[in-house]
Formats: sequence, structure tokens, C-alpha cells
Amino acid sequence: MSSVEKTPNMIEDCLERIATIHGDPTDLVYERLFDKHPDMRELFILDRDNSVKGNMLAQVIECFLDFTGDKHYASSLIATEKINHDQIGVPPETFETFFTNVVDTFRHILGNSWTAEDEAAWDNLITELNKSVASQ
Ligand code: HEM
Repeated sequence: MSSVEKTPNMIEDCLERIATIHGDPTDLVYERLFDKHPDMRELFILDRDNSVKGNMLAQVIECFLDFTGDKHYASSLIATEKINHDQIGVPPETFETFFTNVVDTFRHILGNSWTAEDEAAWDNLITELNKSVASQ
């Protein structure tokens, strides 16, 4: 591969496949989250039109893409959000739970088309991102 070609980004590729198969994954991400962690539902009680949930997931996905690319801001934004969210009753360790839940949802949406490479790419992303946030 020449140096001008872009390295294939498995994460971006997965997100495109998810958009094609399902469209916006917000509904399934939070359905799964509240199913596994029913206590988290009440955190979003004021979000009647789902806009907060949608914006939050969009920002999380932007962070994932930043971290697979230029790494401009993902770690510091997440570290800051951990502090902000702690004040609204979301303890820092909830973030890892949320990330795992997002990946579980994506795996579920892609079903049989989820590959071992997808698994490795997401596993690596979440592990490295968590490490990088912890070192902020
Ligand atoms: C990287 C991780 C996260 C990012 C970047 C993030 C980002 C955001 C943003 C931007 C908003 C405001 C959305 C809006 O008002 O339109 C928000 C709100 C919120 N987030 Fe997160 N969030 C993250 C993780 C979490 C986690 C793990 C939880 C708990 C399940 C959580 C719970 C909430 C709640 C309850 C609100 C609504 C706050 C309110 O309006 O009172 N967030 N988040």
C-alpha cells in the first residue's frame, strides 16, 4: 500500500454497515442499556424526545472515530465528561459499561456479518481508549 492510501478503518467500516442495515442505532443502544441496567433508565427521565440520548451517542461515536484517527480530543473530552457526569449521578465507571454496551449492540445489529476482525478492532479501540482516558 502506498503511503498516500488511507489505512482501512475497520471501525468506520462497521459504522457504515450498521447505518446501511439498521440506520441510526440509538434506539437499540439504549434499549439494551436499560434492559441490562434498569436503574439507568431514570437518569434519562426528562429526555422525552430522545434527543439527549441521540446527541450523547453521536458524541461517543465521534470520540471513537477521533481515537481511531488523529486522536485530537477523544481522551480529554471523555475525561472531562466523566467529571461532569459524576455531578449528575453518573459515576465514572459507568463509562466503560456504556462503551461495552455500544459494542454489544453493534455486534448484535451486524449478526452474522460481524467478523473476527471487527471483534478485534472494537476490542482494541475500547481497551486503548479506556487506558488513554485513565492516563489523562
Ligand atoms: C464518552 C462518554 C459520554 C459522552 C461523550 C457523553 C456526552 C453527553 C452529552 C454531550 C450530553 C448532553 C446531550 C444533550 O443535552 O443534548 C450528555 C447528557 C447526558 N449523559 Fe452523557 N456522555 C457520555 C457517557 C454517559 C454515560 C455512561 C451515561 C450513563 C448511562 C450518561 C448519561 C447522561 C445523562 C443522564 C445525560 C442527560 C443530562 C441532563 O440533561 O440532565 N452519559 N452526555
